Amino acid sequence: MNSPQVAHVEDVRTAPPPQRRRHGWRWVLIVFILLVILFAVAAVWGNRSTTPTREPQHVQSTPEQLKQGEYLARAANCISCHTSQGGTPFAGGYPLSTGFGTIYGTNITSDPDHGIGRWTAEEFHRAVTSGTAPGSRQLYPAMPFASYHQMTRADTDLIYGYLLHTRPSGQANQAPDLHFPFNLRVLMLGWKALFLRDAPLPAASQGQSQAWLRGQYLGNVMGHCAECHTPRGSFGQMDKSEWQKGGTLSFYKAPDITAAGLAARGWTPEDLSSYLRQGYAPQGSAFDEMHEVVANSTRYLSQNDNAALVAFLLGEPPVAAAPAPAIAAPADGGGALAMGRGHYMAMCSACHGADGLGRDLTMPPLRGNSTLRQADGHNLILSILVGLPKRHAPDSGLAQLPGMPGFGDKLSDADIAALANYARSTLGGAPADITAEKVASLRAAANKQHIAIAP
Ligand code: HEC
Ligand code: HEC
Ligand code: HEC
Repeated sequence: MNSPQVAHVEDVRTAPPPQRRRHGWRWVLIVFILLVILFAVAAVWGNRSTTPTREPQHVQSTPEQLKQGEYLARAANCISCHTSQGGTPFAGGYPLSTGFGTIYGTNITSDPDHGIGRWTAEEFHRAVTSGTAPGSRQLYPAMPFASYHQMTRADTDLIYGYLLHTRPSGQANQAPDLHFPFNLRVLMLGWKALFLRDAPLPAASQGQSQAWLRGQYLGNVMGHCAECHTPRGSFGQMDKSEWQKGGTLSFYKAPDITAAGLAARGWTPEDLSSYLRQGYAPQGSAFDEMHEVVANSTRYLSQNDNAALVAFLLGEPPVAAAPAPAIAAPADGGGALAMGRGHYMAMCSACHGADGLGRDLTMPPLRGNSTLRQADGHNLILSILVGLPKRHAPDSGLAQLPGMPGFGDKLSDADIAALANYARSTLGGAPADITAEKVASLRAAANKQHIAIAP
C-alpha cells in the first residue's frame, strides 16, 4: 500500500509543467539539427579521397629485401583480396561481401594516383596495422587490420618496399557499397575503440617454444586465419572467447581449427603440414576459400615456418589425433541409411570409391574425411548440392583437379539427407543427424546466391 508521501512524489514526476515541455521540444530539434550537421561533416570529411599530394616515393631495396617483402606479402596473403578475378595482381577490385554491404579491395600497386605510390612507409604501416589511411581516413575492418595489428614495423617496411617495386596499375578504386550509417567511415573510430586491442590475440593451443611463438605470429597475425575461422559478434568483430572455433563469414563454413577440434577430426602434424603446403592430405582437400589461402599463401611458407604454423595449430606437444573411423555397415540394416547407400553407390562411388578410399590426389578419400567428421554437415551438404569447381592444384604436378558435379538437381532434400547420413555414419564415424529441413535451408541459401540448382 502506498503512503500519501510516496503518492505525492509520483505526482510531481508524472506531471511536468506544460512550460517545460515546450522547451524540451525545442532542445530535441536543436540536438537533431546538430546531429544532422555532424553526420554531414563526418560523411564528407571521413569519406573524402585522401591520396597524398607529395612526390612519388622511392625506396632502395636489395634483391634480398625484395624477396623477403614478397615472402611476407604471401604469408599475409595480401594478393587474395587486392586482386580481382583474372585482374592485375594488387590492382584491387576484389569484392568482399559483409553483413553490412560490399567492400572492395583497393589498388596497392606502386601507381602514384590510384595505388600507394605517394604513401610513406609510416603511412603504410598505420593503414595495415591500425586501419588508418593518410588524412585519417578510416578503413573498414574487412581489411584485416585487427589481425595485422601486431605486425612489426620491420615486416611492413619490407612489404612496402616490395609493393613500391610492383608495376603501377591505373585501375581506379571502387567505392564501398554500404548502407547508412555504415557508409560513414568515421564510425570505424568507435569500432576500433571497442575492439582493437594491443594485447596479443588469443591462442587455441598450448605452447611457448620459439617455433610455437613464430607460429602464433604466422597464424594470428600474418595468415589472419582467425578472421575466417572465428565466429563474429554483432558488430562484425571476431569473438575472442570462441577463438578459431569455426566461422560462417561466407557460403562454406570455415571449420573449427582449435587444437582439440583438428585432433578430433584426425589431423596429425604431418598431415596438416602437407595440407598447408599442397592443399591435400588423407583428411581431404582444401576447397573454396581455403584453396585460395593455400594456393596464394601457405604453400610458399618455408619448411621452418610451415612447421611453426603446425606447432601453433596443434600445440606442444600436439594433441593426439583421433583414429580414422572403421567402415561400418549401415546401422539400421535398411530404411533411410540403405537408401543413402544406394545413392552413394550410384552417384559417388565412381570417383570416391565404393569403399570411400578415393583414387589418387585427384579424387580425395571420403573415409575419415574431415568434411564428413565436422560437427554439423554444412560443408558436406553444400558440396553435394552445388559441387566443387575445377581448379588448379598447387604443387600436385597436375594442371587441374577435375572438380565435382553438383547433385542438387538430381536428388531431393530427403535423398541428400539420407546420403549425407550414410556417408557421415559409415565413412566419417559421425552421427547420422542430418535432416531434410537442414538440406532445404541450405538449398534455399544456395539459390539465393544464384547458384543454379533445381528444386
Ligand atoms: C581479407 C581481405 C584483405 C586482405 C587479406 C588484405 N587486405 Fe588490404 N584492404 C582490404 C579491403 C577490403 C580494403 C579497403 C577497405 C576500405 O575501403 O575501407 C583494404 C585496404 C587496404 C589499404 C588502404 C588502401 C587505400 O587506398 O585506402 C592498404 C594500404 C592495404 N589494404 C594493404 C594491404 C596489405 C599490405 C595486405 C597484406 C599485408 C592487405 N592489405 C591484405 C582487404 C584486405
Ligand atoms: C566426378 C567425380 C566425383 C563425383 C561423382 C563425386 N565427387 Fe566428391 N569430389 C570430387 C573431387 C575431385 C573433389 C575435390 C574437389 C576439390 O578439392 O576442389 C571432391 C570433394 C568432395 C568433398 C569435399 C571433401 C574434400 O576433401 O575435398 C566431399 C564431401 C565429397 N566430394 C562428397 C561427394 C559425395 C557425397 C558424392 C556423391 C553425391 C561425390 N562427392 C561425388 C569428385 C567427385
Ligand atoms: C578467407 C577465409 C579463410 C582464411 C583466411 C583461412 N581459412 Fe582455413 N578454411 C576456410 C574454409 C571456408 C574452409 C573449409 C573448406 C575446406 O575444408 O577446404 C577452411 C578449412 C581449413 C582447414 C581444414 C579443416 C578440416 O578439418 O577440413 C584447415 C586445417 C584450415 N582451414 C587452416 C587454416 C589456417 C592455418 C589458416 C591461416 C593460415 C586459414 N585456414 C585461413 C576459410 C579460410
